[in-house]
Amino acid sequence: MPKKKSSQITARSGRFTDGPAAEANAFTNSVKFDTRLAHHDIAGSIAHARMLHHVGLLKEKEMAGIVAGLEGIGADISRGKFKWRAELEDVHMNIEAELTRRVPAGAKLHTGRSRNDQVALDTRMWLREEICELANEIHDLQLALVELGENNLKVLIPGYTHLQRAQPVFLAHHLLAYVEMFERDYERLLDCLVRVNVCPLGSGAIAGTTLPLDREYVACELGFVDAHDKPMVTQNSMDAVADRDFVVEFCSVAALLAVHQSRLCEDLVLWSSSEFGYITIGDAFTTGSSLMPQKKNPDICELTRGKTGRVIGNLVSLLTTLKGLPLTYNSDLQEDKERLFDTVDTVRATVPILAAMLRDTAVNTKACAAAVNDPSLLATDLVDWLVLEGMPFRKAHHVVGKLIALAEAKKKRLNQLTPAQLKQVDKNLTKDALKVFDLKTAMANRTTIGSPGKIELKRRLAYWHKFLRH
Ligand code: ARG
Repeated sequence: MPKKKSSQITARSGRFTDGPAAEANAFTNSVKFDTRLAHHDIAGSIAHARMLHHVGLLKEKEMAGIVAGLEGIGADISRGKFKWRAELEDVHMNIEAELTRRVPAGAKLHTGRSRNDQVALDTRMWLREEICELANEIHDLQLALVELGENNLKVLIPGYTHLQRAQPVFLAHHLLAYVEMFERDYERLLDCLVRVNVCPLGSGAIAGTTLPLDREYVACELGFVDAHDKPMVTQNSMDAVADRDFVVEFCSVAALLAVHQSRLCEDLVLWSSSEFGYITIGDAFTTGSSLMPQKKNPDICELTRGKTGRVIGNLVSLLTTLKGLPLTYNSDLQEDKERLFDTVDTVRATVPILAAMLRDTAVNTKACAAAVNDPSLLATDLVDWLVLEGMPFRKAHHVVGKLIALAEAKKKRLNQLTPAQLKQVDKNLTKDALKVFDLKTAMANRTTIGSPGKIELKRRLAYWHKFLRH
């Protein structure tokens, strides 16, 4: 493989006599994927240049030339006019080399800086924007769930444990369970943002710099400030270039978010099956079969569920990359970006599509009513009734168990047993007991905080409605 002479503008200039082997560069370069950081790289460099001027390391004219040059490069990149060169290794070297070609003062830009703190900076800046977008998308998904609940306020379905019918719940209560989960995901995301939003620039390659950089100045320029506008800068140069816990943390938040979405999707897949029939997902959000003309598949749910695997995989992959690394920067860290990008791309695709799909999902009230019309779902209410009559819970549980066995033997529904049959099981079972089998009463009787009762559901729906819309 012919080797190229190293030129002045690569990271190899001076030290190396030969350029890298083509296959070595093909293997090591990150231009294949890190150009996504370009605009943040430019913003970081502009702030760095302003700071260098502020501390007297760049003349006004040099700084202005660098800023204008970088802005020009940014415009070219946006227009797809920038020529990326793999032999320049990464996004950082590409931009710096082109700047220096355009503006001689560009050769001063990297003063007091290393790609090690630069890449940490760029990744943090890129990620904090994605986090803000994702947070809004999560809120919209929550809103879609709330709307579906509000539009089907009266619909009851069986709630399941072990995927066996357990007790009646309002469909909206089931949906709001996911709203709660997504709210915690949202909170974790914003909490993670606090640690992402810390400026590493000034850490150099590993050990800071002897130059009089003003780290807090750059931090303020780039919005790395807390709620009181206090600059947030990393406090250990080695930590700043070696660690990627902000990436891991985000990816772990995303993995849990993906898991929550996956569980929602599994419920929706079940509910949209002929066996359940609780919902119909709109044609626009389902796919057909190439063979079976009758099929309408919940593809979006399945793919969202499936993509959870890669989001979890990305987290495990990152942790594995980090686990054996000595301090500080090692090229292994370059592997963080594709995992991070893929995670962001995946959740930023699944969250909005689920919201859109939910807005095109109809609830089949008849199928829901038929499924919930089973008095045995209220067996526990009968136990509670006996408890209120003074019977110890364990005994009441046993008595109702006997009653169910009797009903099964007589091939009758629980509420069809005669007063004599009730008495036969336990003398406390008067015909009043049968009143518990009224679903309306059953849902009115559930009043404790967090229960699926009518009043409690209305309270939570109103809460989310207001909370998510303000
Ligand atoms: N492309 C590198 C990365 O993605 C940037 C930092 C490279 N630093 C270095 N000393 N090779 O992590």
